[in-house]
This record gives sequence, structure tokens and C-alpha cells, in this order.
Amino acid sequence: MDNFIIRGGRPLSGQTTISGSKNAALPILFATLLTREKSEVRNVPELMDIKSTFELLNYLGKNCFYGYGSFVAEEHGSLKHHAPYDLVRKMRASVLAAGPLLARFRKTRFSMPGGCSIGMRPIDIHLEGFKKLGAQVTYEKGDVILTAKRLRAGRVKFRFPSVGATENLMMCAALIEGTTVLENCAREPEIEDLAAALNKMGARVEGAGKTAIKVTGVTRLKGLKHAVMPDRIETGTFMLLCAAAGGRVRLLNTAPKTLTVVINAMRKAGARVNCYKDSLEVISPAGRPKPVSVATKPHPGFPTDLQAPWMVFMSRANGTSEVHEHIFENRFMHAPELVRMGADITVHGQKAVVKGVPQLLGAPVMCSDIRAGAAMVVAAAAAKGKSVIRRVYHIDRGYERLVQKLKDLGVDASRVKV
Ligand code: UD1
Repeated sequence: MDNFIIRGGRPLSGQTTISGSKNAALPILFATLLTREKSEVRNVPELMDIKSTFELLNYLGKNCFYGYGSFVAEEHGSLKHHAPYDLVRKMRASVLAAGPLLARFRKTRFSMPGGCSIGMRPIDIHLEGFKKLGAQVTYEKGDVILTAKRLRAGRVKFRFPSVGATENLMMCAALIEGTTVLENCAREPEIEDLAAALNKMGARVEGAGKTAIKVTGVTRLKGLKHAVMPDRIETGTFMLLCAAAGGRVRLLNTAPKTLTVVINAMRKAGARVNCYKDSLEVISPAGRPKPVSVATKPHPGFPTDLQAPWMVFMSRANGTSEVHEHIFENRFMHAPELVRMGADITVHGQKAVVKGVPQLLGAPVMCSDIRAGAAMVVAAAAAKGKSVIRRVYHIDRGYERLVQKLKDLGVDASRVKV
């Protein structure tokens, strides 16, 4: 197991390039299951969740090649339609194989993903959607089995705008004859990227990015060539890193328009953010930031995946702010670690009260999940002195070449084997 060692407390400067979006790449890679033809996806980040997807697609019978930002999936023989526990437990997004496999083979069996540290994370919204399209759902030995003699297009209204369920149902409906209307959909930019990719395969998806999505099914989809959108969560993490640690940095190959709500909140707190077509520049507040409260919400609201780094930024504010978490029930596990670094944070259910302190101090800390892990890095860069960050395998799931990128921005960071 590796640790990160960060000596923080000095202002940042420099520039780095943002990777392709993990959360957009995952569904797009699973969409390659919808066709036998060769697909090539570019701007795919090299990280653990993509490796897990590579393993699962290969297990299912795809021939995949992956490297230098490019992911190629071909199909020579027949596919399996069973995703086993050992592959699914590594990554909840494996459930995204279900929609394409059900659409193509009228049956699929996959291990029920368990809860995780940030909450229960059930998949009932996905399953309700598949049922509406004609699938039967049964359970056996911890697996979910979906079968359908015939899938039929229809209307699916999600009880909550789940990102994964919206993606799964879009992919499934793309191969079902007739018009399916999905309502109360998630509107995250990654859903628009998936729709663009599906449409390049010959699907007819309209309205992605809005609450209602219309999918007109086709009988066959073709191979895909697509470059994944930039990672808005990685971008936001580096923006908050600069805002919290101080300094001025430039982030290249990104999409500022996907981060409007975060940029507005940062400006309110006193940071300057200059947006260009595909890059942005962040200049930290002069002195301590102003306290700004945020509440996480589905897009276009404040993203839950940036809640933890935002809390780090606010932990140095000149006053008290609140952070409300409305998406996941247990997503404040970074708070006690930040307290160990000198932050003054109290958690009351889904609300954290953050009283700003003048300075965080380096300490040994631990990552509890992917985004909490990123917050530890932000805190360590902002804190005076040395921090040792443990359990960085959580961070490896979602941040490509992180230590190198931190160095690009002037952070004294290294990765050590223990
Ligand atoms: C995706 C993102 C993740 C992000 C999250 C919310 C990927 C690979 N992951 O996760 O980084 O934090 O969106 O923006 O894109 N829920 C149910 N039943 C369901 C599905 C979800 O109750 O069937 C609940 C979840 O437990 C959670 C909330 O809905 O509390 C949001 O989940 P969802 O939008 O589905 O997130 P994911 O797609 O898992």
C-alpha cells in the first residue's frame, strides 16, 4: 500500500492538463457492449475504475486494448451476460453493464452491488426502470437476474434523478423498438456526453441534459469513435486546491461551463476565476476566504463530488459556513480527519458547520472514499507542515497521475511505498 507525503503551506503556481472524465468514460465504455463492431474511445484517463471496467468487459468477452488515453473494444466471439461479484464489488458503476446486456440479449445476471462508505446506494431506480420496459427482476445467491421475452418502449419516470439509472435506461432503450421517454432524468454533463456517444453509434437520443429524454430505438448500433469530455470533478478539485492553498494556477483542456455553480461560489468567497474556451485560471482570495454555505444537489446544483474539497476551502474562511449534503447519507467522513488537521467542524446529520480557522496543520490522515481522499490532498497542500495520506488506493480510483499534476502546480508531493 502506498502513501502520499505532502509538505504544504506554500502558494501554488503553474499549470496542468485535465484528464478525460472518469464518470463520462465509464458509461461510454459500457455502451460498447451494445454493438459487435469495433469501438474506439479516446481521452480515457488511466485509473483504477477504468482498469476495473477493462477487466469486466474482457471477462464478458470483449477484446479490449487500453493505453495512452485510448480504449478499443472489439468482439470476436459470443458475450457472457453474467457480471460476477469479484468484478462488480470493485466498482459500483459495473451495474452499467446491465442496460446494454439486457437490451442485446434479453437477459443479464449481475452481482448486486453492496453499499459503500458514503451510503447504502441501492439500485432500485435502475430496476424499476427496467421493469417498466418489460424486464422481470429476480434474485438468486446475491445476484440480480433480469430477463425479458420482449422489451417494449415506454415511459419511465425516475423517483429521483439518479445519474446511473438515467445512463443505464438510455443505453437499454437505444436498442428497443419504439420511443421511450425517460422523465425526471439526471442532467449531469456526463449524460450529455453519453448521449453524444450513443448518437454516434446510430442511436436516436434527444433531450440529454434536460429532465426528459426521448430515445427512439434502432435495431442495430454501430461502432463508435468518440473523445470523452474533460473531467469537471478533477478540474473543481484543482480549483479548490489553489483557492485553499493560495496562489495562481491555470488548468488546461477543461470545460469551464460545466462548473458554473462552483465557480460562482468560489467568486463569492473571494477567489478570482478567469474562464476561457477550454481552460481556466484560478487566483486565490487575498487573505482568508469569505464564508459561503453550499448545499449539494443534482446538476446543475453544487456537485456532491466537490463537497469534501469545498469543506477544506471553507475550513480556512474568515467566519462560519454550512455544508449540506443532500445526495448521499454518509458523506462527511473527511470531517474528523480535517479536525485532526486543526479544522473546527461539527457534523449534525446531513449538515456540517465549519468555523474557519487561520491555519490548517499537517498530520497523518486517512482516505475513506475517492472524493474524501481528494479533500485530504487539498487539505495537506493548504496545511503548514508535513502530512502523510494513507489508503490512497481510494484516490487512485479517480485521479490520473495525481502526484505529477500536484508537482506541476508547485505542490511538494511524493508517493512512497510502505
Ligand atoms: C454518480 C457518480 C458519482 C456521483 C453521483 C452523484 C459515476 C460513475 N458516479 O454515481 O461520482 O457522486 O453520481 O452525482 O458517474 N439511488 C437510489 N437508488 C438507485 C440509484 C441511486 O436510491 O437505484 C440514490 C443513491 O443511493 C444516492 C443518490 O440516489 O443517494 C444518487 O445516486 P446516483 O445519482 O445514482 O449516483 P451514481 O450514478 O451511483
